[in-house]
Amino acid sequence: MTEYGIETFDLTKIYDGTLLAVDELNLKIPKGKIFGFLGPNGAGKTTTIKMLSTILPITKGTAQILGYDLIKERKNIRKLIGVCPQELVLWDKLTARENIQLIAKMHKIHPTDYKERADELLGKMNLLDRADDLTEKYSGGMKRRINVLMAVIHEPEVIFFDEPTAGLDPQSRRVVWDFIKDFEKENKTIILTTHNMEEADDLSDELAIIDYGKIIAEGTPQELKGKIGRGDIIGFRLLDDKLEFREKVVEDLEQNPAVLWAKSLGKERVSFSALDGLRKISGFYDELESKFGVKMHDLVIRQNTLEDVFLDLTGRTLRD
Ligand SMILES: Nc1ncnc2c1ncn2[C@@H]1O[C@H](COP(=O)(O)OP(=O)(O)OP(=O)(O)O)[C@@H](O)[C@H]1O
Ligand SMILES: [Mg+2]
Repeated sequence: MTEYGIETFDLTKIYDGTLLAVDELNLKIPKGKIFGFLGPNGAGKTTTIKMLSTILPITKGTAQILGYDLIKERKNIRKLIGVCPQELVLWDKLTARENIQLIAKMHKIHPTDYKERADELLGKMNLLDRADDLTEKYSGGMKRRINVLMAVIHEPEVIFFDEPTAGLDPQSRRVVWDFIKDFEKENKTIILTTHNMEEADDLSDELAIIDYGKIIAEGTPQELKGKIGRGDIIGFRLLDDKLEFREKVVEDLEQNPAVLWAKSLGKERVSFSALDGLRKISGFYDELESKFGVKMHDLVIRQNTLEDVFLDLTGRTLRD
């Protein structure tokens, strides 16, 4: 068995003979973990998910899902995967429960095997008391939660969640986050796309950022925040009797190769930024104390965020 849940080999999609949407993508997605799949609008995330879930023909390359070849073993793959699509797929004239039943029947699951599970999943999504309402009467957020749930009724080993929290309020978002985390505990391989960087940071064990169909960065959220972006911004106060050192302290920090910038702020504060600065903070502290006899008082730290990483890599312009 392969060590990866999913591995892609030069996976490529060209639409209409000209539009290169996914460009020789080589992803290595660990098994039993949550993998964040990020990128600006039009980057090729949904196209990749559609190819991996056998919905869309591949132009070039291939992939393996739990060891099965995406081109030669599609039937095996279909049994193993669950997909929560970006666009809602619901039968409006059916109740939520009937929608779930329909999916279960498509997967040839016996009613005795899915009835209890359906109620358990509806309960987790706080939808049990509305389970027998037609979904046309559901709000957008309720529809989204049902769609998330329908992706997993057949207990797939690999689950694709394409923007599962789009349009959800903060409470519902948290319900979906807990729902997704529970699958990780069951050792399922999860691919999550989202435009919410807090969500990506909190949920992903590893992630890839793609743009124009190519990977532009990959690693754990921690690794990426330590390497890319504006750095951790560290501010501190110098006591009155040490203020004479302030410009020297700033100059010294500026010369430190780990420091991106340093400046004086107000009457007595110094601020500087360093990639992976929080982890290096005791080094900065000791250095300033040994060189100038100053201590860093009233520390304030603003950590580099995944949003900073994302903007740094993809720029600030709109893509479509
Ligand atoms: N059916 C299609 N026919 C032609 N071009 C398409 C089709 N679907 C997507 N595309 C194009 O492929 C590119 C990638 O689209 P895709 O939907 O994969 O992006 P995405 O990363 O999922 O974006 P978003 O964050 O907006 O969902 C875009 O340029 C898009 O216009
Ligand atoms: Mg998409």
